[in-house]
Amino acid sequence: MSNTNFDISEGIFGQIGNTPLVRLSHLSEKHQVFGKLEHLNPGGSIKDRTAKGILRDAIQRGKITHNTTVVESTSGNMGIGLAVSCQAIGLPFLAIVDPFVNRENIRIMELYGAKVIEVTEKDEFGSYLNTRIATVKQFLAQDPNAFWTEQYSNPANPKTHHSTMEEVVTQLGRWPDYLFIATSTCGTLTGMSEFVKQNFGSTKVIAVDAKGSLIFSDCPSTRRIPGFGAARKSQFLKPDSADEVILIEEKDSIRGAYTLLKKEAILAGGSTGAVVSAYASMADNIPTNSDVVLMINDRGERYMESIYSQKWIAEYYGEEFLHELNKTKL
Ligand SMILES: Cc1ncc(COP(=O)(O)O)c(C=O)c1O
Repeated sequence: MSNTNFDISEGIFGQIGNTPLVRLSHLSEKHQVFGKLEHLNPGGSIKDRTAKGILRDAIQRGKITHNTTVVESTSGNMGIGLAVSCQAIGLPFLAIVDPFVNRENIRIMELYGAKVIEVTEKDEFGSYLNTRIATVKQFLAQDPNAFWTEQYSNPANPKTHHSTMEEVVTQLGRWPDYLFIATSTCGTLTGMSEFVKQNFGSTKVIAVDAKGSLIFSDCPSTRRIPGFGAARKSQFLKPDSADEVILIEEKDSIRGAYTLLKKEAILAGGSTGAVVSAYASMADNIPTNSDVVLMINDRGERYMESIYSQKWIAEYYGEEFLHELNKTKL
């Protein structure tokens, strides 16, 4: 069957991207702050765009046909994004996960038709990363029609986010002065930043990472908030991808998420909380009347067992912190 037989612009697949850019007027009186509402994508996160971009690229290059099984090592938003897109265009999807996976995410992927395989053996470093990759490779060796999306190294990942930035500029009608982006593969950051540089835009791009992540630092520590940060360097980053990097402590990511919820009625995930806190930490140094765009990367509903669980917060960060969060108001 020819590639053109895939419906990549219609149905729910066609609804990925073109998310609203809305004014968040309660976050600042000094700046015009806007949120790019990526949590409104059909699968609930910015990774819907990454999944769609990688699949579209592979279809155009003839790497995906109607006999293909898509495979990826993922337990989070990318897995859900791929499950949604694969279901929409009628391709089987195999997700390789590990025991740390959020059970709800598995259920969501399965509901969208994915097959989920959980690895149980740790690798030589005591993590599951290499076991997951080895399982993907085993599957690729067995099935010549399998296609690995390789979100950490596939150039279609950052490329997809040129259009994410183009949307922001079109919606705002000008280059924002500042753009805050949470990082993991750094596909979003690199792609949006490339679009700025290639078009001589004036936007300062601020990378927001989790403290303890190894993307921008070499000091690993326990990270409990899923969705952003990484235990490895990014292959996409270039020296000029970020104008500034801000590392955010877990408590501040949580504070940021509650601030956004109480002030703007947006229930978002932990990486968005980090972005809100990163903006707050820089706000004094941002000139008055600047346009600031915050990437709202995913929905908060998937964090009911973590940042929105009173029990979880009290257990890991203490009763006093829980009390502080409960008092956060407009
Ligand atoms: C909620 C959330 N924020 C931020 C990111 C980072 O995006 P990227 O992988 O493009 O760096 C991810 C990636 O999975 C995510 O799920």
